Amino acid sequence: MIRTFLVFFVLISNVIFAQNKLNVIPYPQKVQLLQGEFLIPKSFVLNGNLPKEETDYFKKRIGSQLKFQYAQKGDDIHLTNSIISPVSGGEAEQKKEYYSIEISPKQIHIKSYTKQGYFLALQTLAQIFEQYKEVGKIPAMKIEDQPKFAWRGMHLDVSRHFFTVDEVKQYIDYLAMYKLNIFHWHLTDDQGWRIEIKKYPKLTQIGSKRKESMIGAYVDHTFDGKPYGPYFYTQEQIKDVVKYAQDRHITVVPEIEMPGHALAALSAYPELACTKGPFEPATKWGVFDDVFCPKDETFAFLENVLDEVIKLFPSRYIHIGGDECPKTRWKECAHCQELIKKNNLKDEHGLQSYFIHRIEKYVNSKGRKIIGWDEILEGGLAPNAAVMSWTGVNGGIEAAKSKHFAVMTPGSFCYFDHYQGDPQSEPNAFGGFTPLEKVYSYNPVPSELNAEQAQYIMGVQANLWTEYILDFKQVQYMIFPRLMALSEVGWGTSDPKNYKEFENRVISQFKVLDDMKVNYARSIYNITGKVIPSNNGIAYELSTSQNPNGIRYTLDGTNPSIHSEKYQNAVQIPNSLTVKSAYFQDGQLKSAVSSQQFIISKTTGKNITLEQQPSENYSFGGAFTLVDGIIGNVKQLGKTWLGFQGKDVVATIDFGQKTAFSEVYFNTLENKGSWIHLAKSAKIFVSDDNKNFKLIKEIETSEIQKANGKIKVNVGTQNAKYLKVTIENAGIIPAGNPGADSKAWLFVDEIGVN
Ligand code: ACM
Ligand code: ZN
Repeated sequence: MIRTFLVFFVLISNVIFAQNKLNVIPYPQKVQLLQGEFLIPKSFVLNGNLPKEETDYFKKRIGSQLKFQYAQKGDDIHLTNSIISPVSGGEAEQKKEYYSIEISPKQIHIKSYTKQGYFLALQTLAQIFEQYKEVGKIPAMKIEDQPKFAWRGMHLDVSRHFFTVDEVKQYIDYLAMYKLNIFHWHLTDDQGWRIEIKKYPKLTQIGSKRKESMIGAYVDHTFDGKPYGPYFYTQEQIKDVVKYAQDRHITVVPEIEMPGHALAALSAYPELACTKGPFEPATKWGVFDDVFCPKDETFAFLENVLDEVIKLFPSRYIHIGGDECPKTRWKECAHCQELIKKNNLKDEHGLQSYFIHRIEKYVNSKGRKIIGWDEILEGGLAPNAAVMSWTGVNGGIEAAKSKHFAVMTPGSFCYFDHYQGDPQSEPNAFGGFTPLEKVYSYNPVPSELNAEQAQYIMGVQANLWTEYILDFKQVQYMIFPRLMALSEVGWGTSDPKNYKEFENRVISQFKVLDDMKVNYARSIYNITGKVIPSNNGIAYELSTSQNPNGIRYTLDGTNPSIHSEKYQNAVQIPNSLTVKSAYFQDGQLKSAVSSQQFIISKTTGKNITLEQQPSENYSFGGAFTLVDGIIGNVKQLGKTWLGFQGKDVVATIDFGQKTAFSEVYFNTLENKGSWIHLAKSAKIFVSDDNKNFKLIKEIETSEIQKANGKIKVNVGTQNAKYLKVTIENAGIIPAGNPGADSKAWLFVDEIGVN
């Protein structure tokens, strides 16, 4: 993935709300308390004429997960169900997930239009049983419920790392518990082809293994030296998973990537590329230039593959990828250029559109529809295609305005491979910062759409890319608890203003996850730090979503204990040091230890202005980020960097008074795979009036490259009130690099003087 990384912090408020709601996630649309109580027997049998598969699943869930006892003979729970007379047409589609539950002192009665509605009702009922298990009785109530969005999806990438059938089934169970209804199975990519295709056995013989894998942070470029694979699902296993999901009323949407992300396929069948090859499944992450060449042979291959895929997956939609297809090879390929001419296409983007149109026509001829990532909009959208909007929300907006369906999955809210807490206390992740509260705050309907256009937003999905997710324990960690926020967003009952109330329900669900031995993230307990200007320098503010009196900290580099300083107000940072903090409750350490190093210079905490603002997604704490005493750590990718696409940095720092210094430092980052390039040049100026600036140093490309972006220069004896640093963006990315011809990113960090 090209996605650049960003990490920033939100201040989480300290208020704790009393528990006053049902512990149900997603929260139902309507809950009405009635007179009386329903007694929960310690052991019981269910009776009533109930749909068998759904009821068995419920029994299994409250039996094994919630530890209810079953007896051959015991007290009855009188659970009854009626299927409301079936409706047809558009109404049937709307009502299929509707249910009501009436809990009265004598019985529990569920109404639905379909077995799916009954199944959803049972998920609600299981959570209510869990909540009232200890008390032994449930208040009588009536619940009426149905989701706002028809597409409530979770994606899983099994190419970068593979997960067994058993693990995939567990994943599907998690979706079912929280009423998600789409499992998007990312089956093919550059690093591995994971689905058996009978007609093309080499796809799995060759494409399902790689020589080794990248490990650790991308910038380290370190490899484990261990062969990975062969790993793939046989068609029998796929059928088994599809059936398993169907039993839980979940649709599996398969994804077969084209025209890009195709290296594993090309390794097996190099004749489908623009050049001769040979190719190998990728061992590193990122985007690769070798993609499917749009020749007849390739289309025949893809159609045959899709034939087998369509037979295995009954879903209405087939995901054909479409994202991140570099045009490098197409530009140099005689066949591709000929095809552009012959079809009067504008350019290679037109060729991408031609590719997707042709595949869409084929998929439509089999009675199915295609869905693809944003980039299928390039050069014009295929007539019936749906868009999965990931680079932001614009793809979804464009689709909806042109009467195409869209699923919203913007990276900054819905990418669960991002960090969910301070990277200092989290396992290695892709980058980004998408904590529970951020996911919960998402509204899938962009405000740009009117009511009619909004109808085209089918729903919302979160994606789990697995470059940095090595095993299933880590999968659990990255999806929980964020999956719960997604669930409520998709159901349409999320209320970001009342995030604390939601967080309390999440903490209640932790008990269930504990019983299931799920390795969920406890990041919501962790301490969040924020630097603020203070006394002509900086102070560090600490907060937690829990009781603020529980925070302890140290300034001497030791780990905090219950005897360490109790946090009260923002801590003034007088000199370079490390703040370590943690949350304690009842004498016990509850959170991870947060650690933040500060490097204090004469610029720290001073006024800073930028002539051009950083790109919105990479603007973190604004200009202040450059003088906050925190040096961005390359390994943790991004925490304090400002990102400028195609723009220079022009920063002016006001010391407040004449200040002596002889050394200036700043950092720029390089990560060509993410389109981030070192600066081309830099200049340093001083001034006493903020008008007339004197150039005191020029830094050339070669010097920046030699220092690998970490600039520290002697500027002679200076004494000035203002410092100006201009850092020149690399400009247009040169050929031969990822993102060639696009504007380069310039990532800049802390500007200091000594
Ligand atoms: C994507 O993240 N490349 C869809
Ligand atoms: Zn070609």
